[in-house]
Amino acid sequence: MPEKEILRRIYQAIKPYTGTMLVAMLCMVLVAGFSASQAYMVKPLLDRIFFEHDRSTLNILPLILIAIFLGKGIFYYGYTVLLEKVGQGVVRDLRQKVYRHISRMPLSFFHRTATGELISRVVSDVTLIQYAVSRAVVGILKDLFQVLGLLGVVFYMNWQLASFSLLFLPLSLVPMAIFGRLHRRYSHQNQETMANVSTHLHETINGHRIVKAFGMETYEGDRFAGIVDRLYRIFIKEAKVRNFSHSLMEFLGGVFVAMVIWYGGRQVLNGHATPGTFFSFMTSLVMIYEPIKSLSDVNSALQQGMAAAARVFRLLDEEPEPRAGTDDIPLPPFEKELRVENLSFSYDGNDTVLNDISFTIKAGETIALVGPSGGGKSTLANLVPRFYEPTRGKILIDGHNLMDLDIKTLRDQIAMVTQETILFNDTVKNNIAYGDPERNMDEIRAAARAAYALDFIEDLPQGFNTVIGEFGARLSGGQRQRLSIARALLKDAPILILDEATSNLDTESEREVQKALENLMRDRTTLVIAHRLSTIRQANRIYVIKDGRIVEQGDHDTLMASGGVYQTLKKMQR
Ligand SMILES: Nc1ncnc2c1ncn2[C@@H]1O[C@H](COP(=O)(O)OP(=O)(O)O)[C@@H](O)[C@H]1O
Ligand SMILES: [Mg+2]
Repeated sequence: MPEKEILRRIYQAIKPYTGTMLVAMLCMVLVAGFSASQAYMVKPLLDRIFFEHDRSTLNILPLILIAIFLGKGIFYYGYTVLLEKVGQGVVRDLRQKVYRHISRMPLSFFHRTATGELISRVVSDVTLIQYAVSRAVVGILKDLFQVLGLLGVVFYMNWQLASFSLLFLPLSLVPMAIFGRLHRRYSHQNQETMANVSTHLHETINGHRIVKAFGMETYEGDRFAGIVDRLYRIFIKEAKVRNFSHSLMEFLGGVFVAMVIWYGGRQVLNGHATPGTFFSFMTSLVMIYEPIKSLSDVNSALQQGMAAAARVFRLLDEEPEPRAGTDDIPLPPFEKELRVENLSFSYDGNDTVLNDISFTIKAGETIALVGPSGGGKSTLANLVPRFYEPTRGKILIDGHNLMDLDIKTLRDQIAMVTQETILFNDTVKNNIAYGDPERNMDEIRAAARAAYALDFIEDLPQGFNTVIGEFGARLSGGQRQRLSIARALLKDAPILILDEATSNLDTESEREVQKALENLMRDRTTLVIAHRLSTIRQANRIYVIKDGRIVEQGDHDTLMASGGVYQTLKKMQR
């Protein structure tokens, strides 16, 4: 992303805070003015008091100094707090924006983007942008005002000496430019590696059971050590660049002061300047030096922020895939049928996962999909709530093409229970009422009862108010599944999709989950993908899907009699 574009967008982000920013800048100008007058005060101090022995000046000068410091203090406070407001405001806005953007991305986006990477965009990159805004963009202004004010004093005091010193100023800009570029490169590598750290942590802490079960602690430990070590080396390289540039700037500053002493001292000795002018001049120079030195630090913050901003903006630019339909028809309550017509689908545009699938589910029917693993059943199930979009063909609900429907009204009418239960680290109650916080306790309790979950919930230490741990870590597989069923019951959507909801369970929990599912399926239109064939005996029709095609269809008895794939699958279960 070109630098100009990044800056333009950072500017866009700051724009809402223009007012605050202007007031902050005003305070900044005043601070700079007070700083300059501090330097200027050295002249009367030396010349009037020490050389001319003027007593009246001695009475006024300390008072003026107190006033200057007081003023500087007040406005310094003002500008720093206001700037923080701008910087943190930008951070807040960007985090909200990035999070909303991420949550609107299609499933395919999450398949190709690591979680840790997204977390690091929202957490650390945004912070780096804040540094860039409040330290760099504004820091530059502050330093600039400071330098301008002090330069004013310097020129007012002695323009020859001032012009002489100005010759050196451009010299300090060269290393700043060179180091800035290096710095940006390291900062980028640094953030990428940080993202790897988060991804690795996220995966292995989440998957700790698998890591242990496979005895991979050492392997994962080594892998992590590798990443952290890379981070170490980048940090050290970065520190070398940053501190070398610091030392170099300091040295250049020293050379500069030495030259000024040599040139200015001669002027005092020749009688072209008073000692007061000279020291006042020197004070100004020393004070100018600070903001110039910090300009080089500011530069590195700016470089880091630019790199981070580029990553955040790239993420924000990731378009949700183009949509083929109009998207805006609200789906009326489901009443007639769900029809799949000549549906084909491919994840990547090459491998066809679903090939020319057609079938119809009438309201109130239960349709089962069976077939060998990898055949495309889950893919088909995910197309119904439009998690993906068909490559060819279409899905119609009561005659409305899914592509034309408003997604929210579509998903409101579909409940899904899948093999992997998704629960949040919240209370049992909030997990059941997820998506509908308005539900009252009676409804939640009724849903839990119908899902055969009430008994175990009431045995939990705080009942419905027990926090269940990340992803429901404190519950058994069957309990988690019954909570998801309670959630689906409470949602009370007319269309139900069950994707191997009982497959990960032992026989005991499977029986209970099965009973819960029967309650859930009652009076609903159901698409069930089942692993155990016993659960689909009652289905109105069964479709056998293999390699993305419907290879057989019919009810249980017909299929058993026909002696095809279904019969083979059924036999394998015995
Ligand atoms: N997110 C994905 N990206 C790319 N390919 C996928 C994705 N999910 C599944 N597949 C592929 O699609 C095919 C069908 O998978 P799936 O629908 O999960 O089958 P089933 O549920 O019948 O076991 C498989 O070959 C699988 O590798
Ligand atoms: Mg599947």
